[in-house]
Amino acid sequence: MTSAILGTGKCLPKKIVTNDDLSQIVDTNDAWIRERTGIQTRHLATSETTETLSIEAAKQALEAAQIAPENLGLIIVATLTPDGSMPNTACKVQAAIGAKNAMCYEINAACSGFIYGLQTAHAFISSGILSYALIIGAETLSKIMDWKDRSTCVLFGDGAGAAVLGASEKGIICLDGGADGSKGGVLTCGNAPLCNPYTKHPASNPYVEMDGQEVFKFAVRKIPAIVNNLLEKTDHTIDDLSCILLHQANQRIIQSAAKRLHADLDIFPMNLDKYGNTSAASVAILLDEVARSGKLSKGDLIALAGFGGGLTWAGLLLEWV
Ligand code: UT7
Repeated sequence: MTSAILGTGKCLPKKIVTNDDLSQIVDTNDAWIRERTGIQTRHLATSETTETLSIEAAKQALEAAQIAPENLGLIIVATLTPDGSMPNTACKVQAAIGAKNAMCYEINAACSGFIYGLQTAHAFISSGILSYALIIGAETLSKIMDWKDRSTCVLFGDGAGAAVLGASEKGIICLDGGADGSKGGVLTCGNAPLCNPYTKHPASNPYVEMDGQEVFKFAVRKIPAIVNNLLEKTDHTIDDLSCILLHQANQRIIQSAAKRLHADLDIFPMNLDKYGNTSAASVAILLDEVARSGKLSKGDLIALAGFGGGLTWAGLLLEWV
């Protein structure tokens, strides 16, 4: 017994912000952003929250899977931008959709979070502990951007994607992943310093800071390694894959991965031009778009791969059912 993706959903905030719009806020321009990243627009939350985006994506995924919410044994929300630290976003989704039998928690593995979530749910399902799980990747990254820092604020967007995973004869075949905490300093976002009557530490920068070139180098090495590991472990070759869904951070990273894997760029669907980098939501949103495009057929072999803050990375090989 394994687990399979039975339905997907997504939700993007209504407000679309162009590169030209951002050039009114910081010293940037459309040409730089397009050439260095491939991003043209991003959706930014104005009234939406991580909770509301998650709930809408979840409802769509349940409808597509035709699974009643009471059948869910687990809800995981992968996010680094919850609306608050308690209750967790998964509990809020549970209440909104009526999934009264589900355990609920968040995972923070930055941009690898949605795939980490799928892997965790797969472990529960394939071991027979539960039958159905809902995994959501959701972010309102705009609230942790330094809107004076052009090197980061132009890159990210808000949104959510979701998938229902269920017990199945065919589906997930192989997992890969890891982390290197020693490199965590290249992509950070400040946290709450100790502050009580006995100690006081200066507040750290509450916004995202990134050594873009270090993350870029990490990504272009790691993505091909994840995909090759998945293929080697299962005796497949790159030609067996119908598509590879990568974390949507930068078009140049995806082009480099295609080159290093000796694969046609056509098998790497992209949507970062529309949404920018939505961290934990990125692979989830892309999965939903590809699933709904009608381009996938039963039996297709698909790889998912992500990388991000931590540093973390994760991959998954699955057969479409
Ligand atoms: O999901 C999290 C993972 N994050 C990523 O995957 C990001 C990985 N890194 C990247 O995608 C790229 O490194 C960036 C897109 C972030 C930056 O591209 P780059 O080619 O590495 O540019 P750079 O940082 O070397 O900057 C080149 C120049 C600099 O100016 P000088 O020093 O050459 O005069 C920057 O100050 O571009 C300047 N610059 C900008 N110019 C216009 C940086 N940001 C901007 C901007 N607009 N928004």
